[in-house]
Amino acid sequence: MSTWKILLLAGDGIGPEIMAEARKILDWMNAEGIASFEMEEGLVGGAAYDVHKVAISEDDMRRALSADAVLFGAVGGPQWDDVPYDARPEAGLLRLRKDLELFANLRPAICYPALADASSLKRELVEGLDILIVRELTGGVYFGQPKEIVTLQNGEKRAVDSQLYFEHEVDRVARVAFDLARTRRNLVHSSDKKNVMVTGVLWDEVVRRVHAQDYADVELQHILADNCAMQLVRQPKQFDVIVTDNLFGDILSDVAAMLTGSLGMLPSASLGAADESGRRRAMYEPVHGSAPDIAGQGKANPIAMIASLGMMLRYSFDMGDWADRVDAAIADVLAQGVATADIATEGARIISTSEMGDMILEALKKQAT
Ligand code: IPM
Ligand code: MG
Repeated sequence: MSTWKILLLAGDGIGPEIMAEARKILDWMNAEGIASFEMEEGLVGGAAYDVHKVAISEDDMRRALSADAVLFGAVGGPQWDDVPYDARPEAGLLRLRKDLELFANLRPAICYPALADASSLKRELVEGLDILIVRELTGGVYFGQPKEIVTLQNGEKRAVDSQLYFEHEVDRVARVAFDLARTRRNLVHSSDKKNVMVTGVLWDEVVRRVHAQDYADVELQHILADNCAMQLVRQPKQFDVIVTDNLFGDILSDVAAMLTGSLGMLPSASLGAADESGRRRAMYEPVHGSAPDIAGQGKANPIAMIASLGMMLRYSFDMGDWADRVDAAIADVLAQGVATADIATEGARIISTSEMGDMILEALKKQAT
């Protein structure tokens, strides 16, 4: 059995609470001899700033680069609102994505049957929903230069962010989307704003070229990003895989999250390119943030974190069978009529973060026998 090195970066707010629930599962898998995980813990975000005055230390960056996978909680909180921009909590997350070259961000949105009524949309619109957003993660306006605020001669300030894309950046993320579509319903919607942005024109051109060259068997549809947001709340089940840039992917995945009942439900995988041995750098994190308003109260929903762990088993450790079991354990617990506050529908018994974690672990144990 191979030993996998996992770096745990719990971060801020509810990060440590939800990470503790993921850890229960990893510890159990180790104890049962199902896997051999070597876990290390590091600091990121405000937690790193408080100790090192940066959003992630060089030492933790080195450990992230040498780990087989990084499991990430959440970063940010009002107590760091005034720290220098380059040291703000989110900078730690962005540096990890950039330096690990995690260009493909997979954000699946699945509506569990027990949660169809927790969605803000009608049950019939979301029941059985299973879509996958593939968000480009290391380019676009998040990282484009120049990115600055300058004071003009007349004293007025001007701010600029730069949206830019290289062909190879679009090419590689498009391939990830098409490959994944082949394992699903074989449909890709590519989303951009080519009606107003030249990055969108290039995006669409490259996606079409990759499609024609290597993926003609997959159905490809183009959709403008604003229309995509609208269609996601109008008729979400028309989608299978949506591939889009960094900023639109950020926004569209929050929309998709609410279809599933709560932002607390959405996991994600951020993947780099595969090396010769087929291994990829990877980081797994819930899509939601650090929720400072409920931090430390045992109210956080650990499901997105635990489902992210499931994605790690699938994409980094070739343990798809165990990933399926983790997903089934989550569905099993939800079907028992319990919920954290964010996903509670009428009649559900509200339980704490750790109770939810414990119940999922118990359900996983049952799956295993
Ligand atoms: C996300 C988050 C991040 C992003 C923030 C925390 C920087 O919203 O992962 O969706 O904008 O990418
Ligand atoms: Mg976001």
